[in-house]
Amino acid sequence: MNVYDGLRIASMLEKHGFTQTENVGDADIILLNTCAVRAKATDKVYSAIGRIRQAKKPNAIYGIVGCVARESGTDAFRRIPDLNFVLGPQSYHKLPEILSDPDTKLFDINLGGLEKFDELPPITKSPLVAYIPVQEGCNHCCTYCIVPYTRGPEISRPFNDILAETMHAANVGAIEICFIGQNVNGYKYTDKDGKTYRLSDIIRETAKIDSVKRIRFTSSYPTEMTDDLIQLFGTESKLLPFLNMPIQSGSDNILQKMHRQYNVDEYMQIINKFKTIRPDIQISSDFIVGFPGESENDFMETCAIAKRVGYINSYSFKYSPRPHTAAAIMQQQIPENIKSERLIKLDSILNDIQREFNLSCIDKTFDCLYEGIDKTGTKHIYRTPYMQPCIVETNNATPFAHIKITSANKSCLHGKIID
Ligand code: 5AD
Ligand code: SF4
Repeated sequence: MNVYDGLRIASMLEKHGFTQTENVGDADIILLNTCAVRAKATDKVYSAIGRIRQAKKPNAIYGIVGCVARESGTDAFRRIPDLNFVLGPQSYHKLPEILSDPDTKLFDINLGGLEKFDELPPITKSPLVAYIPVQEGCNHCCTYCIVPYTRGPEISRPFNDILAETMHAANVGAIEICFIGQNVNGYKYTDKDGKTYRLSDIIRETAKIDSVKRIRFTSSYPTEMTDDLIQLFGTESKLLPFLNMPIQSGSDNILQKMHRQYNVDEYMQIINKFKTIRPDIQISSDFIVGFPGESENDFMETCAIAKRVGYINSYSFKYSPRPHTAAAIMQQQIPENIKSERLIKLDSILNDIQREFNLSCIDKTFDCLYEGIDKTGTKHIYRTPYMQPCIVETNNATPFAHIKITSANKSCLHGKIID
């Protein structure tokens, strides 16, 4: 979501005559587009702002946009009094107001709904992967999560706006479309004629665009997986066989305390439906370890579910208490050292699964999408349908290539382009 917001902000500033620079000292305007999901992310913002303050030109204007702006509110100005703007995730389209008078302070952390999508100019050139938001905000009340506070209640964008933006992205270079939203599969929009559209309708229409070769979406809430969407994995070949569907914990006890609306059995039933429809599907998850009250046994259940599902790529986090959330004031907060130990254990399990899956890809061929040059500056990186990075040596790096995997390790694959 932040990548998308960042591109829209960049195109807005370009319309006002700005160009991008990598060097803080050269910039006339500097903004940090921020994430507040864990405390570490918020802390990083304030240390980065401190560094920017030292390095920037004296008359350059600077500020914070996104979820940390909303989380901090006016406190951001108390911490850093000479900030020029603090704009929440649904008000960054107001940034140009400060350009006409850099001496004012701009503050808006209201939840403006979909206004920003109408206000911002479309991107002029798309990366090969275009992220298209279909909804914003979240109505789930996971007790650890700040997102319902920072991004507000769920709102689905009009169906036609999404299709128009998708078509535009394809026209200006996108080959893969990734639909995004905090609760992407909860997408539901009813037009003025009373017709209701779901995510499956968006995917079906998008698949008709010739130049779009791959479609995916993230992030999904397990119990919002409707049958129309699951069925589509059996019929729509452009839909990648890779799904992010976070379970968060493998313990029914903790899932209940997290206010997740499923138990492990129900979650497994959804996974099984997918496997029946699309046997080659692979799943990724997010995990939180050290949620308040998590016993050693609860944690072992998380390790067990990770192995049982065989998640090929996951994100695991230590529970981080956040303001405006119920879990932050729960009893039985877990000590930091135990959280760290559990994270190391879980990561080791997840890494083993990932390595094993990567090794199982050797000798297979995949249609892969170009991503860029590797760190050495000599080889090219592609992404497989399972989003694994695949390193290729070639003088003819086309945007979309058929690649045979020749070797693999935990973090990447190596392959060669075949005709
Ligand atoms: N602490 C740790 N991880 C969190 N996440 C959300 N809130 C917290 C928190 N307070 C994780 C969840 C979510 C991902 C985006 O971030 O796993 O799926
Ligand atoms: Fe946060 Fe996701 Fe839960 Fe919504 S569903 S409250 S975004 S963790």
